[in-house]
Amino acid sequence: MTREELIQEAFKALKNAYAPYSHYHVGACVLAKDGRTFYGANVENASYGATICAERNAVFNAYSNGCRKDDIEAIAIVSDGGRLGAPCGMCRQVLCELLNQDTPIYLSNGTEEKDTNIAELLPMQFTMEDVLG
Ligand code: THU
Repeated sequence: MTREELIQEAFKALKNAYAPYSHYHVGACVLAKDGRTFYGANVENASYGATICAERNAVFNAYSNGCRKDDIEAIAIVSDGGRLGAPCGMCRQVLCELLNQDTPIYLSNGTEEKDTNIAELLPMQFTMEDVLG
């Protein structure tokens, strides 16, 4: 699957966003090296803090189906905002543990695009090594 196709898959996931509070829709798609795809959309809640972002749902979905960081080829994260959205801080923390540092992260809002990775998005990381020594 090409980068463009993966971005299109993420836009399909965005259609499933449940965002009655923010009306901000996000979709994500993880591409595994074996060709499998794992989707996520943001799912909000009246208790706002219980909301889960699209990219965490997609990566947790991949892990829940047995994928680990070395099995992941790339992730696309897309939104319908007026400017290019980038993962929130909590998602960056999750992605820094569950993706490789250089795993491609493709961002798009349909008009603007940026290719990045977690090393760029989250410098000075707090990791498992800090906790376990
Ligand atoms: N959101 C995501 O899905 N991913 C992000 O990285 C940024 C925020 C969602 C959470 C919430 O449903 C809405 O966008 C507004 O914050």
